[in-house]
Amino acid sequence: MGCGCGLVGLLIAKAVKGVQLVGVDSHSRAIEAANLNAQTLGVGAEMILADSGTPARMDGTFDVFVGNPPYYSDYRIADVFLETAKRALKPGGVCYTVCKNAAGLEPVQKRYFPEVEIIRRRSYAVLKSVKQEA
Ligand SMILES: C[S@@+](CC[C@H](N)C(=O)[O-])C[C@H]1O[C@@H](n2cnc3c(N)ncnc32)[C@H](O)[C@@H]1O
Repeated sequence: MGCGCGLVGLLIAKAVKGVQLVGVDSHSRAIEAANLNAQTLGVGAEMILADSGTPARMDGTFDVFVGNPPYYSDYRIADVFLETAKRALKPGGVCYTVCKNAAGLEPVQKRYFPEVEIIRRRSYAVLKSVKQEA
């Protein structure tokens, strides 16, 4: 989610066989760039223009959610990202968000997922959560 030019999802789809990629962004130019990059890399993907996450028909269907939510708006956009992650993932599915400041994002992620593991990578933090089984 917040796929921008699609880089993160496209690299995953290149690295992992059989991935069905869906990208979401609220900016039409991002979706245009993501579609162009998917085409250039030969990756089949559905890129969706939306500002409130994946459509309801996709709820509970994803194994993995990835995103680096914007920091501005006092984490209100991060909240939309994480609400989508919880709704879109299957039970047992994994949510990864990435940010510079884990202290800011962790409490938001904890509103949706009780457990948040923080994985440090250079100057970034990856926040990993697993959606609980029903
Ligand atoms: C930090 S950038 C992520 C860039 C992306 N990882 C890339 O490789 O290009 C955050 C992205 O979130 C998008 N965004 C902001 N608000 C959004 C919303 N409500 N729903 C979906 N995407 C949103 C922005 O348009 C931007 O592309």
